[in-house]
Amino acid sequence: MKKFISILLTISLVFSICAVSASAAEEDTPDISYAVASDLHFNFPDEKLEWFSEDPIYGYANRRAAMENESGLIIDEFLNQCAEDDNIQFVLIPGDLTDNGKGDYTEHVAVAEKFKDFESKTGKSVYVIPGNHDVCNPSKEEDTDLARFMEIYADFGYDKALTKDLPYASYTADLGEKYRLIALDSNDPSKSTEDGMNDHKVQWVIDQAELAYEDGKYPILMMHHNLLDHMPMQRVLSHDFIIRDHTQTAEKWADAGIKLVFSGHEHCSDATTYTSASGNTISDFATTSLTMYPLQYRYIEMREDTITYEAKTIDKIDTDALKEMIPDYTDEQLAEMNKGLNAFAKQFLKNGVEWRLERGFLDEQLGISPGDIYYDTVRDVIDALNDVLNMPLYGEGSAQELGRTYGIEIPDSEYKDGWDVATELVAAHYAGCEDYPLSGRDVTILMRTVSIILKTEFATIDDMAIIEALTTMIATSNGTERFLLLENYILGLGYGPISPGEYFLLAILSPLLMSFANDDEVDDNNGVIDGYGNNDTSENITDNFIATMNELVKSILYIIKFIFKGFEVVNYFK
Ligand SMILES: [Fe+2]
Ligand SMILES: [Fe+2]
Repeated sequence: MKKFISILLTISLVFSICAVSASAAEEDTPDISYAVASDLHFNFPDEKLEWFSEDPIYGYANRRAAMENESGLIIDEFLNQCAEDDNIQFVLIPGDLTDNGKGDYTEHVAVAEKFKDFESKTGKSVYVIPGNHDVCNPSKEEDTDLARFMEIYADFGYDKALTKDLPYASYTADLGEKYRLIALDSNDPSKSTEDGMNDHKVQWVIDQAELAYEDGKYPILMMHHNLLDHMPMQRVLSHDFIIRDHTQTAEKWADAGIKLVFSGHEHCSDATTYTSASGNTISDFATTSLTMYPLQYRYIEMREDTITYEAKTIDKIDTDALKEMIPDYTDEQLAEMNKGLNAFAKQFLKNGVEWRLERGFLDEQLGISPGDIYYDTVRDVIDALNDVLNMPLYGEGSAQELGRTYGIEIPDSEYKDGWDVATELVAAHYAGCEDYPLSGRDVTILMRTVSIILKTEFATIDDMAIIEALTTMIATSNGTERFLLLENYILGLGYGPISPGEYFLLAILSPLLMSFANDDEVDDNNGVIDGYGNNDTSENITDNFIATMNELVKSILYIIKFIFKGFEVVNYFK
């Protein structure tokens, strides 16, 4: 009898443990889980490889450093991963599906073909929204206007639309039982990059969010342009990538109960949050271009109290298919890709960025011409910058050797030259989670390399030319902000006394450096934020108040410092 009771107890214990773990598993099952991939930039592959530099592997890296020839195969691999992963229920794509689709609708047809194939094989839905590369105001037969876009992608969101906002390509659709997608067309088809937001679109999103709540659904927003800053002062430094009036809009949309936004366009992986005065938090997840380093997409799990996000990467493509399409690829190139496509993509990006920035040093790109009074100053500095960036960092005739003659020590590292360091910082910006503190080794190498130019070049430049250039800089709208960055981040590094000429160069470089080397505290790639069921705003209001006060104090200090520095510069020339 005793034995029977103990067996019974054991069985009931086993059952109760099973029941507990079953209910825990049930509780842990997300409401919805899905993938977000942005800026696919599909291109038809070239017939031949075009070479831009002498590098035997990466010399075909183009202006945008996007893997154009490989784009179709990268998209295929992404869709394969989504098909094989049972957790991925559907796919969101916030725009730039194609690279040249606005002027060639057949690119869209090719992308839609891939989605059709994916949907019919897996039964999983794809939801799209246009980006600036996808639509235009048509002037020729092959152009894609909004109506044609919606027709080609009819099966990918528009067929499930609860409502559309014609003539724009915006729509809403339910995602499972608890969530509703608000897919917003943020473009202006008459512009190449800039957003096309207006009061109507802002209000339409608010109305749709309210409607979603009335229907018992939580609203998730998807749009191409960024809602929040993904680099310091994005509206100043990269204004075509973030929507106009972004702070006011974020305030309104946060208060309309939207917590989660997916955007693309900037081609960086970055998560930014904004908390409204009423304590409502909205997060904008900018997702990097799928076909550019780091070849990354997001995997999202949504539960009542939490939203979990994770970065996933593409590390291979069908290189046999690539060789078949473009026989020009060498065995060495394909072998390098097969070793790991992600590492390949990084080198490809670094080569492409260097080529692009070097071209950016041309007169027309800089917006200067020999008639300008400050032409010689800018030209000399930029040429010197290019020379020093190309100089080997270590060994005979190196930047390290040259630096020592001025008492500037460049720390040892594995970097080849200044370009190698600079492009590493750019790659880190795209990949998200930049961990390059301004006092760290990598930024120090770059800054000290640059400071060699300060010591070598400015000794020979005419003071009057510098005054003129300086005045022009200050007169530009963001001149003040450049100086504030300079004050706070560059002078603090302790490079000794700085002349007005040195000020000038640093003023040009500091915002660029800032934008690539720094990040906020929100993890860009992997993390957890509050779910829609988490509604406690009281703590947010207190945090917001303290943060605003801190900002205010900082701004006052900036202004005071700037005024005093202004006096110093003026006195210097007296
Ligand atoms: Fe894009
Ligand atoms: Fe874009």
